[in-house]
Amino acid sequence: FSEFLTDGFGRKHTYLRISVTERCNLRCVYCMPAEGVPLSPPAHLLSTPEILEIARLFVSQGVTKIRLTGGEPTVRKDIVELVEELGKLRSIGLRELAITSNGIALHRKLQRMVDAGLTGLNLSLDTLDPFQFQIMTRRKGLETVLKTIDTALGMGFGEGGSGKVLKINSVVMKGVNDHEIVDFVEMTRDKPIEVRFIEYMPFDGNKWSKNKMVSYNDMVSRIKETHPTLQKLASQRPNDTSKTWGVPGFRGRVGFITSMTHNFCGSCNRLRITGDGNLKVCLFGEAEVSLRDMMRKYRGRDLEVGGVGEAAGGREEMESELLQVIGKAVGNKKEKHAGMGELE
Ligand code: GTP
Ligand code: 5AD
Ligand code: SF4
Repeated sequence: FSEFLTDGFGRKHTYLRISVTERCNLRCVYCMPAEGVPLSPPAHLLSTPEILEIARLFVSQGVTKIRLTGGEPTVRKDIVELVEELGKLRSIGLRELAITSNGIALHRKLQRMVDAGLTGLNLSLDTLDPFQFQIMTRRKGLETVLKTIDTALGMGFGEGGSGKVLKINSVVMKGVNDHEIVDFVEMTRDKPIEVRFIEYMPFDGNKWSKNKMVSYNDMVSRIKETHPTLQKLASQRPNDTSKTWGVPGFRGRVGFITSMTHNFCGSCNRLRITGDGNLKVCLFGEAEVSLRDMMRKYRGRDLEVGGVGEAAGGREEMESELLQVIGKAVGNKKEKHAGMGELE
């Protein structure tokens, strides 16, 4: 495995998360203020050839899973074409290609993405009540998201052997949507999906407070009041963010993302690329290094993929410079939570 993607604790980074836009068509209260987040000037964002260049480089070094995130990835104009191009990396070792979306603008794009090789869809949905949806996301759209879930199920997501995984991400906030936990578990009765409850995490300016967080243990106890047979499943994948449980007899599963009370940093295999082309080795850390600036030294922003690097200096030179800085950043990755100390 590539030394450039192995850190000082021996963690091998096989999972790359690429933010393809900073924009979003919702304004979830736990994520951003009502007015939205400050956006980078468009020229600072990665172009599609740049994203593809980075993705190809990481896959060549052993990355087997790419997830597109945002913001909301579907607000990027050429998101379908991007997925189509990334799908081609399967020929050099990419095995999973996934997207995390709020499901508002995904519906009509999904089939082409699946045709291009999309293997995973994580949909954010925090409430099943239209009024509560409007409070939590500051927009309308519950019906659209529910329709997208059905569309995905209709395309075979979640069916054994389809190779396509559908997960629902639900951020649980005390006094806001925690009374709906059991309703979400109910969704797993007939649908082959994984509903994942996420412990509310602190991010810049999201007014996090411990009082608003519902812990993993509390969520499990709450569900057991209605479903006493709820049990932890054995089939945990070593690098998953979630602990997987299920109610016997239900088609789907229930997961818990326990970033706050049981961190999973020890088995972290993730690296991230921000919308403006910075490498981040930890969700909680600062941007590490600008891969964008390094690439732009070697080429004009609009050079076609394939022609990359031919203008000024060679492609090989660019790749080796990129790998050096990536290797250095990964090598210095902290043991947990970007070294911020205990969040728990
Ligand atoms: P899978 O690839 O299906 O395992 O998805 P995922 O859980 O990695 O990603 P997703 O985009 O669905 O994010 C779900 C939740 O996990 C969000 O609340 C993220 O903030 C959180 N999460 C994602 N990556 C990390 C990470 O590296 N560290 C921590 N602590 N939380 C993360
Ligand atoms: N705490 C936990 N999860 C969050 N997400 C966004 N903000 C937070 C937060 N403060 C989740 C979204 C989405 C995923 C990518 O991150 O719900 O599902
Ligand atoms: Fe944030 Fe995602 Fe909600 Fe958009 S949909 S506001 S990116 S959590």
